[in-house]
Amino acid sequence: MRIYRTSDYQEMSRAAARILAAQIQLKPDCVLGLATGSTPIGTYEELVRMYQNGQLDFSEVRSANLDEYRGLLRDNDQSYYYFMQQNLFRHVNIRPENTNIPDGSQPDADAECARYEDVLAHLGGVDLQILGLGHNGHIGFNEPADHFPKATHCVDLTRSTIEANRRFFEREEDVPRQAYTMGIGTIMKAQKILLLVSGAAKADILAAALRGPVTPQVPASILQFHPDVTVIADEAALSAFSG
Ligand code: F6R
Repeated sequence: MRIYRTSDYQEMSRAAARILAAQIQLKPDCVLGLATGSTPIGTYEELVRMYQNGQLDFSEVRSANLDEYRGLLRDNDQSYYYFMQQNLFRHVNIRPENTNIPDGSQPDADAECARYEDVLAHLGGVDLQILGLGHNGHIGFNEPADHFPKATHCVDLTRSTIEANRRFFEREEDVPRQAYTMGIGTIMKAQKILLLVSGAAKADILAAALRGPVTPQVPASILQFHPDVTVIADEAALSAFSG
């Protein structure tokens, strides 16, 4: 595991975008595993900037997002589908048919999760997976549990995740209670993983994930077993981490 310390969020975002850009340049039809949330927004802004400067071409890039809220339609401005359009897809020349996100509008959870695993298999797996870190140690929406879920599945969001996501919704009762998410097994199959973390509020959970015991109670701790993980985190996020 490589740990790359940056001074702040902007530097984290630039460093992450450089790695993503190199991946696209090395393998123009690569499969990017994408995350939503606050953390990667700056990275996506950098990628858009590089595209606008003519430094990047997304025409062959394929993508697969980690997760989506169950029950939200794609045009809901809180859906992760909408987030990806707003923050990346509509600003670059990625082909819509090359982007993949679990479909939260599908009520049959088993069918939708099986479909998404098939999509990933047809893509031939993820070359580079971006991850953010939840305050409770989740990656994707794999919440603390007594086991590591393997494949894409439907998850009940924990109270802490519902509260963390509350800021994006008008009322607490509007925050979805369930999501479809790649499993830990799905995430661990990616060739390379880039974990992005920013801010002092994540310092303790980041230290636990990187140096604590590998346990499903801290889902991100499983990354200690992945052969190719790069952590890009700012000073504040690494403030509880030594070594
Ligand atoms: C998003 C995702 C989540 C977030 C995590 C951190 O697709 O899978 O695991 O990465 O909740 O969210 P932020 O970046 O908003 O702190």
